[in-house]
Order: sequence, then structure tokens, then C-alpha cells
Amino acid sequence: MIFNDSIRYIDNTLYCDAVSMPEIVAQTGTPVYIYSLRRTIQNFRRIQSAFAGLNAHVRYSAKANANLAILGALVNAGAGIDAVSAGEIHRALLAGAPPDDIVFAGVGKSPDEIRYALEKGVGWFNVENILECQHINTIAESLGRTGVRVALRFNPDVVAMTHPNIATGHGGAKFGLPAEMIGELLSQQRSYPNLNFAGIHLHIGSQLHDTQATQQAVRAALNLIAPYPNMRVVNIGGGLPVAYRPDEVLPSFEDFAATLTPLLQGYEVLLEPGRSIIADAGLLVTSVLYEKRQGKLTFVIVDGSMTELMRPALYNAHHEIVAVSRRSDTMREVTVVGPVCETTDVLGRDVPMPYIDSGDLLALLTTGAYGMAMSNNYNQRPRPPEVVVEEDGQTWRIARRRETWDDMVQAETNL
Ligand code: LLP
Repeated sequence: MIFNDSIRYIDNTLYCDAVSMPEIVAQTGTPVYIYSLRRTIQNFRRIQSAFAGLNAHVRYSAKANANLAILGALVNAGAGIDAVSAGEIHRALLAGAPPDDIVFAGVGKSPDEIRYALEKGVGWFNVENILECQHINTIAESLGRTGVRVALRFNPDVVAMTHPNIATGHGGAKFGLPAEMIGELLSQQRSYPNLNFAGIHLHIGSQLHDTQATQQAVRAALNLIAPYPNMRVVNIGGGLPVAYRPDEVLPSFEDFAATLTPLLQGYEVLLEPGRSIIADAGLLVTSVLYEKRQGKLTFVIVDGSMTELMRPALYNAHHEIVAVSRRSDTMREVTVVGPVCETTDVLGRDVPMPYIDSGDLLALLTTGAYGMAMSNNYNQRPRPPEVVVEEDGQTWRIARRRETWDDMVQAETNL
């Protein structure tokens, strides 16, 4: 079932923990993102306990959802943060993350970002480029910083079973360093006196459908660092998968942990899960505007669109779409679309839907990850508000207000 302990129907109305969707929408309007902090923390704990056989630490991947309320709750629960830009580091620090628990990753860190991260004392740099090592070393020297911890991102040249647009570990991808270059860097560690080469990093893709490719990649990484006793940390990246359809069969967190635990004994392990912590804790609620029949299709036009949720347009991704007030009426199949002037602004095809009216609420499920994080203002659509239902399951608050038309022009009018 796509529902979980937090996101489910009670008496035919959709709830997030003990709060009904209509209660929230009465105050916020639509479209609106709603997240269960209880489910978020539960997911974090489920990952921690699956990997309890290792000396493992979670560094939540902020790119999946960087709302300060989410980051704050995870930091309070003991997570560090995986950041891919100075902006994400800034947010992580605002959320109270200890700098030492922040890893700075990314294929193209600018000198300004490197300086900022060094000044703030972030714990790790995941390095993807030889020149980047030189930059970090030079900037560290100018700031009088030594012992800057570096994990080399390894591109193991394995093909992960996932959507081609989110695979990263194959030879043709822009990510990581091939084995030869890592070997070269490790043999020249002394050329970088301000750096401490202490770890290897890999991330072969997101929404991984099998454990084998990860196992193969980790094995290769361990072989690579075997001659270097200073390399004691293995960052295995993110990619733990989430079911987007009720019938989707995927390896569990425990399956990944069982495959990797025997290999990684004696190492410190870092994990960078994003999606698996926040995806199924979130939903996007939208209102029906109109319905029309065109050709052979019935279009349901809603006030949410590809600007709030790009995943269907960008990856052909599937999100379950359900009526907030469940009805037992006859179902028909509809195409759910947004108001944006793009043919690809389709949120769901062949969606089973009861007969609904203008103003009825629909929910797009499993949208906590890479939903709001990838939203934009195309067509001058204000970004939606984000609501969190607190860990007590009862109280809720607006964690980010809806943008206004003025917000969208502010950066231009102040010039
Ligand atoms: N670590 C690294 C180095 C990554 O590149 C990523 C994701 C993660 C961790 C977190 O992966 P996760 O646990 O969330 O799978 N926008 C796409 C996903 C892009 C993922 C990019 N990197 C989507 O909506 O499916």
C-alpha cells in the first residue's frame, strides 16, 4: 500500500497524522505541500537501525527537501547534512547542524563556495576533480587551515538500475573520479599538505532498484583504498529507494544493509539518503478547477502544476493521485493536468478518479522529496506554502508561507 502510518484515510478523509487535509487547506489554500515530521524521523530511525551493524552516520541529503523545519527536525534527531552548494550549507547551519557533521559534495564547487565552507568549518569535502583538490588546498592554506578532511568521489563505472536521468555511476557520467585518478591522487597526497585524505565517496544513482550494483561499487572502492591505511571512512551516498506505486517491489533498507554490512566492518560509514527520508512523508494537495473532455480523454485541470512538482514532466515519474474525500462512486480514468502553458504539464495519466466537482481536493502522494525542492516560478506562479505536522502528530504550522506576486519581482525592483 502506498499509504503509511502517517499519510492515510480516516473515515474516508485523507489525514497527515491526526490532522485532516481540509483543516489545513481551510487556512492555507491550495496548492500546498504538507509533511509529517513524525514519518520523517521514523524513516531516519529506520535507516539508522537497518545499518546498526556498522559504525554508520546519516548525512541527510538536503537537496531532496531543504525546508528549515525538516532540516531542523533531522538535525535534532542526530542527522548531519549532505550539502551540494554554499546555499545548502547556509541552510544547514541555520537549522543548527554542527559544521563538522556537514559534508560538502558537488561536481562543480566554486572557489567562493570552497572558501565559505572552509571558513564555516564543514567536516568533509567530497572531491570530484584533481584541480578541486588544489583549490581546496590553496584556499585552506590562505586561511591557515590544515587537516581538511577529503573524501574522493569514485566513479566505479557500474550501471545502476534506475531511471537514466538519475544514474550517476556509469563511465559516461560527469560525476566522480575514475579509479586511475584516485590512485594517482592517493599516491601524491603529500602534494596537498593542508588536506587529510581520509575517505572514499560513491553514489551510483538515486532510487536504486537492486543491491548488487551498490555492492559491486563498494567492493571496488574498498580495493582501491586497501593500500592506504589512512582511508578509514566510506561514504556510500544515497539512493535508497521509495515505492511510488502500491505494487512496486523494491529492496528494503535492511536488504541494502545486509549486503553491505559484512564488507564494511572496521570502517566508519557515512550515508547520504534524501528521498528515503522525506518522499513518503510529504504530499501536495491541489484543488480541482475544471474538467473537460477532449478527443478521447477526460482532463481534470487542477491548481497545482509542473511548477510545484516537476517530476512527472521531467522524468515521466509516477505519483499516485487520490481524492482527499474518498467516495465510493464509479471510477473513470482521467488525465490530471495543471494550468501551465506546456503540453508536458501533466501530473498523472490514466488516473482512476471518482466523479468530482470544482473545488474538490486531490492529493499527489509521495511528493516530499524533489517536489518543493525543484519548484520554480515559471508562468509567474508563486511557490506554494509548506506545512509541517509536528512530531506530536497533532499540531501543525506553516513552515514556509506562500510566495506573493511581490516576492517574485522583489529582486528586480530593488536594483
Ligand atoms: N548523494 C549524492 C552524491 C547525490 O547525488 C544524491 C542525489 C544523493 C546523495 C541523494 O540521493 P537520494 O537518497 O535522494 O536518492 N531529482 C531527482 C533525483 C536526483 C538525485 C540527485 N542526487 C528525482 O526527483 O528523482
